[in-house]
Amino acid sequence: MNHPNFATIATHNNMITNSINQAVNLLQNENVVAIPTETVYGLAGNIFSEIAIKKIFEIKKRPSFNPLIVHLDSIHSLEKVAKNIPKEAYLLANHFWPGPLTMIFEKQDTVSKLVTGGKDTVAVRIPNHPVALELLKKVGFPLAAPSANPFKSISPTLAKHVEKYFEKEQLLILDGGECQKGIESTIIGFDKEGIVLYRLGSLAVESIEKVVGPVKFFINEDLAPIAPGMLSRHYAPATPFILTANLEEILEKNQGKKIGIIRFQEEWVSDSHHVEILSKSGNLEEATRKLYAILHQLDEMDLDLIIAEAFPNYDLGKSINDRLGRASKSE
Ligand code: TXA
Ligand code: MG
Repeated sequence: MNHPNFATIATHNNMITNSINQAVNLLQNENVVAIPTETVYGLAGNIFSEIAIKKIFEIKKRPSFNPLIVHLDSIHSLEKVAKNIPKEAYLLANHFWPGPLTMIFEKQDTVSKLVTGGKDTVAVRIPNHPVALELLKKVGFPLAAPSANPFKSISPTLAKHVEKYFEKEQLLILDGGECQKGIESTIIGFDKEGIVLYRLGSLAVESIEKVVGPVKFFINEDLAPIAPGMLSRHYAPATPFILTANLEEILEKNQGKKIGIIRFQEEWVSDSHHVEILSKSGNLEEATRKLYAILHQLDEMDLDLIIAEAFPNYDLGKSINDRLGRASKSE
């Protein structure tokens, strides 16, 4: 008797798999594959394949001036893509790689400007995820990978988030479970005076400063959005979203609405609203890990409004506030 082929009766064309070899095969043939990392899922392609890189921009609907991060399997590959690497970078790499620190260097000529958004610099990191590392070793070339979400929306931290975003694409999604860091990598660069922060992320700035001293904040985002994670509205749910330091006041102003509430630690008893506490024990790492999954979940609940209460503004709390702040911008 013939059994129905479930793959063919599924309503979408994507496929979630655990097979690293299947992903290797596609990547070696200039295809794009969604891959897990410890921060968020990425849409990966061979940095040396023009076809793959163009596909990434197309699938993501990302403007071509917005550069991609290059993912390496080991520090030994760094000089293949970057040059004039400052000493502090090696110090930081030894401390934090593999891990959620992206560093920007002068690019080697072999790295296409398609990858770097037309710039002479390249952003690089080594992801700290066993599946990503095994994949990188097996493919034998670096992978360019932006977060696996349409431009400006919330990054995916589960394979099913990616699946939902790209229902119409024929995309292989390599499942690596829940991303353990939960928000994107921290991005830094180097200039004459020292280290510059381009994007807050899942490595706290305080941790970087312990190794190399003070980091300068890049703040002139409207004049020169060098890292588009610094553009105004980003990381945003479809549901109207407010970040506030005064939950009571915002609730008062929005009576009668169906509301989802996000808080860090303390319970908020409510019969009428859906409340999500990110870490009852007050652990910022736990809160960061859960943040996007909760945003995805609330966004699917048909709410009129999501309200997030500001987090304590230090360490990873600063990175969370950055993302919630961008999500709450109107454009
Ligand atoms: O955690 C992460 O970084 C994830 C995972 C998949 O590795 N990737 C990620 O990529 O968040 P994406 O494309 O969503 O964000 C990359 C950021 C963008 O804001 C981009 O502008 C910036 O990195 N970037 C890349 N190359 C750059 C460069 N040469 N100069 C300045 N910014 C750069
Ligand atoms: Mg992104």
